Amino acid sequence: MTKAIVIASITITAAFAATAARAADPAAGKAKYEATCVACHGANGISVAPIYPNVAGQKYEYLVSQMQGFRDGTRQNPIMAPMAQGLSDIDIAHIAAYLSALKQ
Ligand code: HEC
Repeated sequence: MTKAIVIASITITAAFAATAARAADPAAGKAKYEATCVACHGANGISVAPIYPNVAGQKYEYLVSQMQGFRDGTRQNPIMAPMAQGLSDIDIAHIAAYLSALKQ
């Protein structure tokens, strides 16, 4: 019984994750990225200075969790936190879809 519930909730979680990834629009992510993020993380996600990480070709789920972390305060950085503050979950999904598809 418990096992069935665990399996069912894993299946539901996976289905939601897949839906979010499908809804993500790389073109919308590119527009958002080029409006602000490009100043530090560079054109095509290759950063402009050694203190800024490259974000091109990073995994979709990792990008989502890091951007949410900066926004929600679970990952703390005084430069990145204000950048993530204005991002909705949909913005984050779009940006992650754009960046994860770029070449490293
Ligand atoms: C003023 C410079 C600056 C801008 C603009 C900026 N970032 Fe960042 N970003 C940083 C720095 C610095 C870090 C590294 C933070 C740390 O060391 O924890 C970072 C880290 C990240 C990471 C985590 C990378 C990793 O490998 O863990 C992501 C994802 C990210 N930024 C996305 C964005 C997005 C999306 C935007 C635009 C909404 C943006 N950044 C705008 C400076 C910036």
